[in-house]
Amino acid sequence: MRVVILEDSQAVSQRAADIICQTVHQQPDCVLGLATGGTPLATYQQLVDRASQGLVSFSQVTTFNLDEYVGLPRQHRQSYWHFMHKNLFELADFNLARCFLPDGLADDLATACDDYERQIAEAGGIELQLLGIGTDGHIAFNEPGSSLGSRTRVKALAEQTRLDNARFFGSMEEVPELAVTMGVGSILASRQVLLLATGSSKADAVEAFIEGPITAAVPASALQLHRSVTVLLDRPAASRLRRLAYYERVEQLQRQLEQCAR
Ligand code: PGA
Repeated sequence: MRVVILEDSQAVSQRAADIICQTVHQQPDCVLGLATGGTPLATYQQLVDRASQGLVSFSQVTTFNLDEYVGLPRQHRQSYWHFMHKNLFELADFNLARCFLPDGLADDLATACDDYERQIAEAGGIELQLLGIGTDGHIAFNEPGSSLGSRTRVKALAEQTRLDNARFFGSMEEVPELAVTMGVGSILASRQVLLLATGSSKADAVEAFIEGPITAAVPASALQLHRSVTVLLDRPAASRLRRLAYYERVEQLQRQLEQCAR
């Protein structure tokens, strides 16, 4: 796991956009796994800016989002379908027919979840999966206790998550109870993972998933099993890490490490 500590959240979004654009440059028809929430917003703004300047094109890219609330119409302002279309897809040159989100309105949710996994596989699997992390250590809506081998399915949201997301709704009562989410196992199947965390509210979860034991109590800790994870943190999010000095030294040695890796 590569842990990169950057000066502030703007530097995190710039570096994240650099990594995403590099993936798209190397493979213009790549498959990206995308996330919602407050954290990736600035990264999406960077991608929109770069696309509008002609520095990158997403016209051949396929995307799969991590999750969607159950029961919210697509046009609901808090649906993740709406979030992605208004904050990214419609602002850059994405082919909307190739932008997939789980269907939280399907009559048969179990079948829709299996279909989503099949669609990802048919697209060739996810090349780069973007992730945030919840204050309780969740990734996507894989709440503490989620099976580390789980695939796309319906999950009940934890109270902490509903509390954290109440800021986007009028009140906690309006936050849905259920969501369709890619599983921890689905995320582990992606070829590269890019996790972003900013702000002191994430410091405990960041320390637990990077330096704690692998446990379903902290679903993000399963990423310790993945062979290609990059974590981008601002200083407040990194503030509880015990091996901070080591991660910073590794970054200083990065050029040498890359030469050895080739
Ligand atoms: P946030 O959510 O980016 O809004 O903090 C992250 C998450 O819950 O995964």
